[in-house]
Amino acid sequence: MSIVVTGATGRLGRHVVDHLLQKVPAEQITAVARTPEKAAGLASRGVRIAVADYDAPQTFEGLFAPGDRVLLISGSEVGKDRVRQHRTVIEAAAAAGVAQLAYTSAPGSLTAALADDHRATEEVLRASGLPWTLLRNGWYHENYTENLGPVLERRAVVAAAGEGRVSSASRADYAAAAAAVLTGEGHENRTFELGGDTAWSFAEYAAELSRVTGEEIVYKAVTPQQLTGILTGAGLPEQAAAVFAGVDASIAKGELEITSGDLSRLIGRPTTPLSDAVAAALKA
Ligand SMILES: NC(=O)c1ccc[n+]([C@@H]2O[C@H](COP(=O)([O-])OP(=O)(O)OC[C@H]3O[C@@H](n4cnc5c(N)ncnc54)[C@H](OP(=O)(O)O)[C@@H]3O)[C@@H](O)[C@H]2O)c1
Repeated sequence: MSIVVTGATGRLGRHVVDHLLQKVPAEQITAVARTPEKAAGLASRGVRIAVADYDAPQTFEGLFAPGDRVLLISGSEVGKDRVRQHRTVIEAAAAAGVAQLAYTSAPGSLTAALADDHRATEEVLRASGLPWTLLRNGWYHENYTENLGPVLERRAVVAAAGEGRVSSASRADYAAAAAAVLTGEGHENRTFELGGDTAWSFAEYAAELSRVTGEEIVYKAVTPQQLTGILTGAGLPEQAAAVFAGVDASIAKGELEITSGDLSRLIGRPTTPLSDAVAAALKA
């Protein structure tokens, strides 16, 4: 019996493995990587490495064992059929008879197109007969704080989110929740709406950036159409730009404000404030 984490060489996956290593012996953890070289650091810590690709169903044959507890981290590649990718993993896990499959989904309130793959994957998982856990992750702080360069340069946070608020949390917080679900009991067939304890508006985010940098940074609210134009003008493909604009439109409607308290309850502590992520990004 192993705790198996797919997408383990990604940014969320690495945090999940870090949290698991604090809770269980390394030999009980299997990291699934499509690029084995990226998993060298995990292997050196005693974690078992399995090489598999969501696009190659045969690579998942025999990967899972009865009783395993699995975290399926959603695929990240724009333009790929992510539902088919996720079905590949779910079917292999069901064939093996794993004890639990937890999936990193999107908030139930999110109607943006980005959520479509997640809703469809949830259906596949529920229909699989496996004990499931839905980790409906809200937004990462890092979606914003990892891209501070242009914001600081233009001294403006440009978004199409109106006055909407976002309950973001750090990747490490969501990873801690996943580790809690994979190592704890009683989380089967349950849905967790995960988000940070304190929601913020883009005007507040700009004010926080102003406070810590000592520069005046403003929130420039634009329409989703304007945002799409700005992003494509900066070189982003049309499809990706439309996805980002769609998410902002959802934020404006309050769809990324999560009030369940599930995340801090699962991790047993308050979630990381946005200001910590801003400080860490500026230090880096
Ligand atoms: N909640 C949010 O704010 C938010 C934001 C962005 C993304 N997401 C979703 O959450 C997931 C995890 O976030 P993250 O920050 O960890 O993303 P990430 O750093 O891009 O990691 C994605 C992981 O998925 C793996 N992967 C992608 N395609 C694969 C394939 N065909 N077969 C096997 N593995 C594959 C990647 O493998 P490699 O390491 O080999 O690249 C990587 O390990 C993302 O994939 C995305 O679905 C959520």
